[in-house]
Amino acid sequence: MSNGLSGRTALVTGATAGIGYAVALQLAAQGAEVVVHGRDAERGAKTVQDIENAGGRARFVAADLSDADDVRRLADEAGEVDILINNAGIYPVAPTFDTTDADFDAQINVNLRAPYVLVQKLVPGMLARGEGAVVNLSTVAASTPADGAGIYGASKAGLDLLTKSWADEFGARGVRFNAVSPGPTKTAGTADFGPDGIEAMGRTTALGRAADPDEIASAITFLASPAASYINGAILDVDGGRPAIRPVA
Ligand SMILES: NC(=O)c1ccc[n+]([C@@H]2O[C@H](COP(=O)([O-])OP(=O)(O)OC[C@H]3O[C@@H](n4cnc5c(N)ncnc54)[C@H](O)[C@@H]3O)[C@@H](O)[C@H]2O)c1
Repeated sequence: MSNGLSGRTALVTGATAGIGYAVALQLAAQGAEVVVHGRDAERGAKTVQDIENAGGRARFVAADLSDADDVRRLADEAGEVDILINNAGIYPVAPTFDTTDADFDAQINVNLRAPYVLVQKLVPGMLARGEGAVVNLSTVAASTPADGAGIYGASKAGLDLLTKSWADEFGARGVRFNAVSPGPTKTAGTADFGPDGIEAMGRTTALGRAADPDEIASAITFLASPAASYINGAILDVDGGRPAIRPVA
């Protein structure tokens, strides 16, 4: 175990599955105490156990990120944190006329408002200590339109702009804000894309394959660590590369 993050506490939202689970394990392996957030107590306990079995420290806090009051309670229960990973997100795929106000609100509330509320609650402590790092999860769909993902892309494009705004607002006081923009990644969430869905999307990348969650998590862990001390306001594409436009033969 490396101890580059020992003495630090990290809150990872949506940490019981997918990319968030991989980040939680990596941050703990670097020595951080991890506050594992999720909704399901059983999955939370399993994630904490997996971290402890690997020699790390963790505790679980449940909260529904679609409810701003519950997000505030999550922040209170997390206590002082040095690293905030706004990972949890929802990405239903539907054409515009098949979506409702409720679908719109759900994506904005979970993907955009919850990170905002957590920053409001947790960054003042980081500023008081003169040090902190926040990493937000974006998506390639925030910068390039994707079929059925307009609301999702808009929610994450909003988060990208907040990331850059906060980087500017708080950087000189020691708190860095960055985002990671993953390409197609094999998680429970993308398993819904149907047989071969995520692998087919992966084949459209320059690397020609979908990512494993650990490959996204390592970029997030890097941005949260002192090794990234001069990186602030970056939206880092971790997307396997977008292929070049080639002449039609
Ligand atoms: N997987 C991909 O291909 C991909 C690509 C680009 C961006 N992303 C982004 O990466 C992040 C993680 O994605 P993933 O694929 O690992 O997701 P996932 O669906 O596998 O896991 C997301 C986690 O967030 C939690 N969550 C969702 N809504 C919640 C709510 N209301 N309250 C509390 N928790 C809630 C889920 O329970 C789950 O644990 C998301 O922000 C997503 O938008 C993923």
